[in-house]
Amino acid sequence: MATFKAGLVGVTGYAGMELARLLTGHGQIELVRATSRSDAGKTLCDLYPNLTGTCLAELVITQPDPDDLAQACDIVFLAVPHGTAMDMAAQLLRRKVRVVDLSADFRLRDPEVYAQWYGLTHREPELIKDAVFGLPELYAERIKDAQLVANPGCYPTSAILGLYPALKADLVDTSGIVIDSKSGASGAGRGANVGSLFCEVSDSFRAYNLGKHRHTPEIEQELSVIAGQELCVSFNTHLLPVNRGILSTTYTCLKKTLQLDDVIGLYSEAYSSAPWVRVLKRGILPETRWVRGTMFCDIGLVVDARTNRLIVVCAIDNLCRGASGQALANANLMLGLDVSTALNLAPLVP
Ligand SMILES: NC(=O)c1ccc[n+]([C@@H]2O[C@H](COP(=O)([O-])OP(=O)(O)OC[C@H]3O[C@@H](n4cnc5c(N)ncnc54)[C@H](OP(=O)(O)O)[C@@H]3O)[C@@H](O)[C@H]2O)c1
Repeated sequence: MATFKAGLVGVTGYAGMELARLLTGHGQIELVRATSRSDAGKTLCDLYPNLTGTCLAELVITQPDPDDLAQACDIVFLAVPHGTAMDMAAQLLRRKVRVVDLSADFRLRDPEVYAQWYGLTHREPELIKDAVFGLPELYAERIKDAQLVANPGCYPTSAILGLYPALKADLVDTSGIVIDSKSGASGAGRGANVGSLFCEVSDSFRAYNLGKHRHTPEIEQELSVIAGQELCVSFNTHLLPVNRGILSTTYTCLKKTLQLDDVIGLYSEAYSSAPWVRVLKRGILPETRWVRGTMFCDIGLVVDARTNRLIVVCAIDNLCRGASGQALANANLMLGLDVSTALNLAPLVP
């Protein structure tokens, strides 16, 4: 069976670390390059003893070098900050190497919107039109032919999957949608900053970036495509005192009176061929621990008849489903492999 060679730029970040973990179990994608500017020269197991004894333990971390990556790899994952990925992506694509970008650099179709929300002028705007938004449940066929996949953000993954069936079936009023999301601290990355310190996060709970989180335009862009009209949503974020996991609760108004079982039936049908979206039974609501370290997106539904609302609760793991697992699913599709290869993961509970 064919084995593809992969590179991973940013192996020392939380997303990179998770991708390395997933690739240890992948028989058809071999990680041959893993980069970090600050830790080049060390082996992966020097940094991550959890990889000891795996096929990746002794892989030596290198400096990110597009020529070397292009020469060695069929596909490269960019697990680096936004604003950094675009240059590396362009250099690799020019050398005919496929790219899965985990950053936000190619998610937004309009470079002006990118500039507005990220405070940066896009340096490779021509590439945006060729980038496919990497949500396999919605875009699998296009991902298969893509050279460049823009891996979705973690919050957007939960918000879009939670609303997709309701918008597609025109169940809810498209104005006044409120998405109330909470994330574990690994969502902010591994870089040192005061807000992520143990004493700042532990034993407390706070909101941040209300009404102005950078994932807002990405969520609106994709929900607008699904709804067939421009949507404006209220998207708000909170920091949970846990390492990983996202819980997004979305409040919508139903267009007409509906029974919960009908909504559950519609959601189940919409995701009947999606291996990782689990529509939970009546009365069961998702929890981050039931999806930890997996590709699952658990969806719980509530019809609040008194206020005529459909409330959708979604739980995902930000690092696996919201970043690296999804990136690997996209790479599987791009390389003609089964989308689930190395991704049939059981949750790490409790
Ligand atoms: N964390 C999440 O839950 C999550 C979820 C979805 C998407 N993402 C996205 O995934 C990307 C990585 O996130 P993360 O949380 O893993 O970040 P992180 O923990 O801060 O790690 C960033 C990695 O990129 C490398 N890097 C930084 N600047 C670089 C540059 N200029 N050139 C080459 N390498 C560079 C870093 O290593 P060196 O500095 O040593 O080179 C490090 O390995 C980000 O774009 C993020 O938005 C993250």
